Amino acid sequence: MSYSCIEVECNKHPLFEHCKRIRLEVFVGEQGVDADAELDDIDDYAQHFLITWRGDEGGKAVPVATMRIFHYEVPEQPEKLILKVGRIAVSQSFRAQGIGRRLMDAAEQYAKSQGRKDKKSGAFLFMHSQSDKQGFYKKCGYCVVRSAAQLDGLIDARTLREPDEAELKSLEFLEDGILHVKMAKFVPC
Ligand SMILES: CC(C)(COP(=O)(O)OP(=O)(O)OC[C@H]1O[C@@H](n2cnc3c(N)ncnc32)[C@H](O)[C@@H]1OP(=O)(O)O)[C@@H](O)C(=O)NCCC(=O)NCCS
Repeated sequence: MSYSCIEVECNKHPLFEHCKRIRLEVFVGEQGVDADAELDDIDDYAQHFLITWRGDEGGKAVPVATMRIFHYEVPEQPEKLILKVGRIAVSQSFRAQGIGRRLMDAAEQYAKSQGRKDKKSGAFLFMHSQSDKQGFYKKCGYCVVRSAAQLDGLIDARTLREPDEAELKSLEFLEDGILHVKMAKFVPC
């Protein structure tokens, strides 16, 4: 079997329909997010990604996963290249096969390319992670952060103090009716 990761420049691109279908299936169908909240104005300018799968016997490539990334402005940190990753979704029957990790690898490649373009020495990937998905992002090298102001600590993650259970609870917030925490990773360029 083989996988391909395709960059879908904007929501006007014909392949965006597949990204949209997967997101509606996963976030609206499975998780009960409101369809109007799921598709928003950020889709107009975000970079979208689509992973397709093809079986050993060939045949048509099947779209199986998606995510989006966009430049994220933090007023107190104007000098930093911060990219917000979101809408990470793998179709239910394709989970637990390493496809989510492929998406996160693609996010890092993208961050590196943006850093080189902007001549930055590194980029920060930042996200709102559903609380029960923290384990997945931790495996991909992300840490829970208290705020964007703490991103510098990620450059040398050894200096970062992991929140204990009580603090973690205090860092959780509701988004679309689902508990989330802020997570981030530094990507040297
Ligand atoms: C979260 C999600 C993207 C993970 O994708 P996936 O393709 O199943 O993950 P992978 O197979 O690449 O897993 C990579 C590693 O993370 C681990 N992992 C996956 N989901 C996990 C979870 N919810 N909690 C803890 N660890 C998890 C896997 O066990 C694997 O570990 P290993 O490398 O030691 O074997 C997928 O479950 C999904 O789309 N969920 C629904 C949508 C969603 O909630 N998106 C996240 C919004 S923040």
